[in-house]
Amino acid sequence: MSYDFDRVIERRGTDSAKWGHFPEDVLPMWVADMDFASPQPIIDALTRRVEHGVFGYGLEPQSLKHALVERMMRLYRWEIRPEEILFLPGLVSGLNVVSRAIGDRGDGVLINTPVYGPFLTAPVNQRRTLQSAPLQVRQMGCRLHYELNMEGLAKAIQPQTKLFLLCNPHNPVGRAYTREELSEIAAFCEAHDLVICSDEIHCDLLLDDTRHIPIASLAPEIAQRTITLMAPSKTFNIPGLGASFAIIQNPTLRKQVEAAMAGITPHVNILGMVAAEAAYTQCDPWLEALRSYLTANRNFAVAFLEQRLPNVRFTCPEATYLLWVDLREVVDGKPADFLLRQAKLAVNDGAWFGQGGEGFVRLNFGCPRCTLEEGLRRMATALNGTLE
Ligand SMILES: Cc1ncc(COP(=O)(O)O)c(C=O)c1O
Repeated sequence: MSYDFDRVIERRGTDSAKWGHFPEDVLPMWVADMDFASPQPIIDALTRRVEHGVFGYGLEPQSLKHALVERMMRLYRWEIRPEEILFLPGLVSGLNVVSRAIGDRGDGVLINTPVYGPFLTAPVNQRRTLQSAPLQVRQMGCRLHYELNMEGLAKAIQPQTKLFLLCNPHNPVGRAYTREELSEIAAFCEAHDLVICSDEIHCDLLLDDTRHIPIASLAPEIAQRTITLMAPSKTFNIPGLGASFAIIQNPTLRKQVEAAMAGITPHVNILGMVAAEAAYTQCDPWLEALRSYLTANRNFAVAFLEQRLPNVRFTCPEATYLLWVDLREVVDGKPADFLLRQAKLAVNDGAWFGQGGEGFVRLNFGCPRCTLEEGLRRMATALNGTLE
């Protein structure tokens, strides 16, 4: 079966946040959704459900829970039970619910930056104190390699710290943490008695032969202190359908999270559930093809930057469709504003990702190759001050 990821699909005029936010002459490579159609089994399952024509309140499909149990075992040798899964309408919602569920007003939440913006805002929204340490970064030629900063975390932690928010794979720096790195973080959280909330929304978007390891799968005692957040939304390009879930094996933690959700967090809508089940049961071949395409896109982008923009540094992500680009040597001020103005290119400004993000941008390469090429060409033209 072949899949046409090169096909350009017009998204303007479809209420797309990515394509509707900026004027028409701007090429959007910012918010994390992809410009590909979802896999056909998802479209077919949604069509069948829509054709039924009755859209009353839904039940949580047990078949979806069983598919998730089977998937965790098959991919990670991680044994979970259906009752350990809580459905959530979104993972930003999940980060807020967890920040609210763990600890009390004023207690600390620890993060490593730069990281997806809601990691910085969710704890504050829920009246917690944010404690952060920058990731460590090593430079090899033009390439940047980020690592968790255990020393920084040890300095940032306070007696009132209760929760560590982990992003794995890490948005925006594209790391898929190794077993050794995860074991180190797990040992740190055990030593300081922290609950771990691991946002693994990008866990299927693996490039090359990268493997994903859920931190909870390291050992049962780690699972007992971990809340894992996952979703089919990024992987199968269905974030607008709002279906995601938490896996919480510790019954006390699960009750705390359920209590924080009660009466506030809506159920996942019925179409989201239908799409999620089709995604997890019928779309493996599509996902494999997507990974190859994204890996080739990443290689294309990295080669382009290396050749055309020698003063720019960037990550070579192991996972995600996000490239993290350091423009400090070539742009003064906010680089995303510069690129919007001068290149008609919309990217996320690094400052949104917290300390260590200033002067960087995040570029989304989840798009047809010709779109990526056009975005990179616009960037190079603006930065080199010449027509590429
Ligand atoms: C790490 C991470 N968590 C959560 C989200 C958003 O999740 P949702 O759309 O389910 O709220 C994103 C979206 O980019 C993300 O990168």
